[in-house]
Amino acid sequence: MSHTPVLLGTILENINPLPGEFVIDGTVNGGGHAEKLIERVGSNGKFLGVDLDEDMLSETRKKLSGKNIFLKQGNYADLPEILEKGKLGKADALLLDLGFSSNQLEAGRGFAFSKEENEPLLMTYDKNAEPLMDILRDLKVAELENIIREYGGERMAGRVAKAIKANLSRIQGSRDFAEVITKSLPNFYEHGRISPATRTFQALRIYANKELENLKTVLSELPNILKPGGRVAIISFHSLEDKIVKDFFREERRKGILEVLTKKPLVATREESMKNPRSRSAKLRIAKLIA
Ligand SMILES: C[S@@+](CC[C@H](N)C(=O)[O-])C[C@H]1O[C@@H](n2cnc3c(N)ncnc32)[C@H](O)[C@@H]1O
Repeated sequence: MSHTPVLLGTILENINPLPGEFVIDGTVNGGGHAEKLIERVGSNGKFLGVDLDEDMLSETRKKLSGKNIFLKQGNYADLPEILEKGKLGKADALLLDLGFSSNQLEAGRGFAFSKEENEPLLMTYDKNAEPLMDILRDLKVAELENIIREYGGERMAGRVAKAIKANLSRIQGSRDFAEVITKSLPNFYEHGRISPATRTFQALRIYANKELENLKTVLSELPNILKPGGRVAIISFHSLEDKIVKDFFREERRKGILEVLTKKPLVATREESMKNPRSRSAKLRIAKLIA
């Protein structure tokens, strides 16, 4: 499944990359947003694309290349070190499009809960990160329950966590895992509106990839990533992520460090939501570094 970049026009319009500027895409993936950002900064500009997923990057390298185009495997939380090592200087704009892409659902790493294939239960963007299966072995039931409740909003987190720990030895992959979760929940659950495994898969993906910690780190590092006047645009798909961005922007505005350019998050138009269902839960917030 190819990935369609969300809120592309809105981002370009609001962060307005200019010819000659230096723009970073901290979650470059297949380069959907990157292609347009590179077009905007032009041949006198500079572009850095970062992603934890080396497989995605090697595909992106085939289509995005040029004198001032740099693609690096890494964590956006480490951007200050990446910039320093590459002697790239600070940037005029940073884009973060959080979470995973449609391509990664097809990557055979256990991200999808509705597949026939029993994929290895890795659920990590970075191939060298600890696989989810090992994480599950180490977690105590109570810890697992908290993660599933907090990051997945799963009301029946206790039942799910107990079932996972009790059945660990028979979980060979993502299909077995989804089955254990589904069986632990009552038949009438959610009246079939969403798959019973949705919330638990989401919670464990967030935990395995330290998604909220990475987001908090990159936010606190913005003055080491952006020039004064530099813009940061963050697209989130989960209320916990959006709350972190909203609260951080508000606090830094109070301190006179950021100017918040979006009073309310920007969302997809009806037209975009119809064409790209993934865009329905996207929230975009943008700020500018003052000092
Ligand atoms: C929603 S996709 C980005 C899609 C991209 N904007 C496009 O339109 O093609 C999110 C990407 O972020 C990457 N990612 C997640 N956490 C990351 C992190 N901490 N550092 C770098 N990349 C990360 C994932 O591997 C994934 O490729």
